[in-house]
Amino acid sequence: VREPDLAGRHVVVSAGGTREPLDPVRFLGNRSSGKQGYALARSAAARGARVTLVSANASLPDPAGVDVVPVGTAVELREAVLRAAADADAVVMAAAVADFRPATYAVGKIKKKDDQEPAPITLVRNPDILAEIAGDRARSGQVIVGFAAETDDVLANGRAKLKRKGCDLLVVNEVGEHKTFGSEENEAVVLGADGSETPVAHGPKEALAETVWDLVAERLG
Ligand code: C5P
Repeated sequence: VREPDLAGRHVVVSAGGTREPLDPVRFLGNRSSGKQGYALARSAAARGARVTLVSANASLPDPAGVDVVPVGTAVELREAVLRAAADADAVVMAAAVADFRPATYAVGKIKKKDDQEPAPITLVRNPDILAEIAGDRARSGQVIVGFAAETDDVLANGRAKLKRKGCDLLVVNEVGEHKTFGSEENEAVVLGADGSETPVAHGPKEALAETVWDLVAERLG
């Protein structure tokens, strides 16, 4: 049993993938299963933290002793994360948040018409929740962690993203069609704003979760 090094801390974890509705039955989504975020929540609870898990469309059992807040869209996820983050010591954004959402929502199911070409889908930008939280200096003292799924130039893109988002730690992993999303395992490098680089060997998502909390606990002092 590990020492409860997060006792007395409140941590917020986002997990899963947002769904951006087009109409009552259709959405734009992604392949995130939520497994990494749930592993982070379980691990933080085991280390003594009070945990708020903001869960976007994950079909996974609620971890014991964790406050689960279900959300659907990026806008809902933002509201839930900002509310929970108000008194948090750390925020870990493991959710795959859609960068864009359909500009309009059709209240009735969109119908196909035999004699017409399909209408294009116009997208608008979603708020960048991680950048917003990391950029809010009123929260100094909080440790903010982002995730980045990259398909190429993993480290260079990760460093640039860490800077752009302004977070303290960025977990960078390489993704492809059959890598990471939905799988039980992960392999990553955790980049620190202080220049640190912590590789996490291929292994269960629980192992990556423990490394993330080690680095967070270190920074909380
Ligand atoms: O920019 P990109 O989507 O690659 O960044 C990934 C990180 O940013 C993740 O931690 C994700 O949760 C967060 N993110 C966010 N809001 C968005 C898009 C991504 O908080 N709109």
